[in-house]
Amino acid sequence: SLSPQDAQKKAAAEAALDFLQPGSVVGVGTGSTVNFFIDALAQRKHQFEGAVSSSQASTERLQAHGIEVFDLNNVAELPVYVDGADEINEHLQMVKGGGGALTREKIIAAVADKFVCVVDESKWVGRLGTFPVPVEVIPMARSYVARQIVKLGGDPEWRQGVVTDNGNWILDVHHFDILNAAELERQLNQITGVVTNGLFANRNADVAIVATANGTETRKR
Ligand code: A5P
Repeated sequence: SLSPQDAQKKAAAEAALDFLQPGSVVGVGTGSTVNFFIDALAQRKHQFEGAVSSSQASTERLQAHGIEVFDLNNVAELPVYVDGADEINEHLQMVKGGGGALTREKIIAAVADKFVCVVDESKWVGRLGTFPVPVEVIPMARSYVARQIVKLGGDPEWRQGVVTDNGNWILDVHHFDILNAAELERQLNQITGVVTNGLFANRNADVAIVATANGTETRKR
């Protein structure tokens, strides 16, 4: 049987099925919450055309269920993207990338008309940044980027041994005092050698489905 937190993840993921657009391709994120969404999608295969996926792990799980995974370049319309988050605030800005898939997640989020974020209540926060902000870097730029991040007030830690689906490395940045998430997201992107960062503030979610002990709530900004 499921832990209370896993039961919440599953409830949030299943509530996201209501946002599926019949006959269309659905964007699929990465992580343990999204895994419940993928499993639920398998029961509704006739209702949508297929998926675009934000990670190798999600692609494998989708394909194991017989769900077709399209190349994002061949998809003209993407009405909905469903993904989890490590933290989300009342503006539906998020920290993502705990699973290391932030870059592909950000690309699909950019393409999608609507971002539906599925979380258990532990992810809901007053201020972002307790969860360290992941930054994907080109490997040769790791030390340089780390020094620049220190100048921005962060405390970067190399996620040693982890290589992203794109062949890059990740710095997890602790202790950022995030007063303006959109501005910090831009500043991190300005550092040469940064591929993307896990702040989703400029492209935030459109809808959050938050599962609590008393059921799921849909929150908008
Ligand atoms: C993956 O890179 C992350 O952005 C995930 O969306 C995030 O870590 C949420 O994962 P869980 O659903 O496993 O908490």
